[in-house]
Amino acid sequence: MKYETIGDIKVPKIGFGTWRIGGGSSADNSVDSKSLAALRSALEMGYTLFDTAEMYADGHAEELLGKAMQESRLARSSLFVTSKVEASHLQYDQVLRACEASLRRLGSEYLDLYLIHWPSAGMKLADTFRALNELVQNGKVRHLGVSNFDLKLLGQARQVSQSALLTDQVPYGLADRDYVKNGVLEYCRNNNILLTAYSPLEIGKLSSNKKLLSVARAHRTTPHQVALAWLASQPRVITIPMSFDPKHQSENLEAADLVLTAEELNELKGIS
Ligand SMILES: NC(=O)c1ccc[n+]([C@@H]2O[C@H](COP(=O)([O-])OP(=O)(O)OC[C@H]3O[C@@H](n4cnc5c(N)ncnc54)[C@H](OP(=O)(O)O)[C@@H]3O)[C@@H](O)[C@H]2O)c1
Repeated sequence: MKYETIGDIKVPKIGFGTWRIGGGSSADNSVDSKSLAALRSALEMGYTLFDTAEMYADGHAEELLGKAMQESRLARSSLFVTSKVEASHLQYDQVLRACEASLRRLGSEYLDLYLIHWPSAGMKLADTFRALNELVQNGKVRHLGVSNFDLKLLGQARQVSQSALLTDQVPYGLADRDYVKNGVLEYCRNNNILLTAYSPLEIGKLSSNKKLLSVARAHRTTPHQVALAWLASQPRVITIPMSFDPKHQSENLEAADLVLTAEELNELKGIS
């Protein structure tokens, strides 16, 4: 596995997403066994970064991730767990309550990373960050970040946060370059912030793109692995694909170590 390092913080280039674990926007117990199986296999095959949110399956994704982590008997310190406070909980006391509830569901004393999931129209960032920074001071949260923040909001968040922001989690992949075009990726690079690429495998029609298929063939891999390797090759970019399928999970993990040539990277730059 390759890592991104910022100071003494080391974050894997490829982690595991948990959207659809335990349901969609509400809990669905009929997918519990499938969800636990996916989490168990991800933990067994060596994923150490897990991305979840209070909003996923209305907290049930966190419950199942907590159960799978406890069962694995892996040391908590060997894992890196991210969760997110939802856009309707951004007032000071709501943030503190939301974090406590996430920790309880995860069965953990701390989060490695806590993000504002989405900006909301009426949010008061100074108020939200007062709570977030308090959580850092109390040891409940190691690092802070944001998600779906554009350049302007990211700058505002940095101004009101006492702790450095570790990431902006945004959609990014071969088929979605919006956060390159809007300047967020460059800003992250210039300010030692990780860009966490979500939905990296939403490549749609690109999975049959000739250039992508030819790069995949040259490495005896799949277009999806190339899509992840392309992200992992970029400085300050990490990504969090999700899969229920153990074969896909292991392909995705291995993609971090797939080295694409400068020529291939250049070819892929032009497709979207
Ligand atoms: N911050 C936010 O607002 C936000 C928004 C969206 C997502 N996220 C996070 O980002 C994570 C990933 O995004 P996502 O779940 O939307 O999409 P994704 O990981 O890009 O794609 C998931 C889809 O790709 C398939 N897949 C996975 N690996 C594959 C492979 N090797 N070959 C072929 N197909 C493969 C999966 O099917 P199988 O299960 O069949 O493999 C699934 O249908 C989420 O789980 C969540 O943690 C955050």
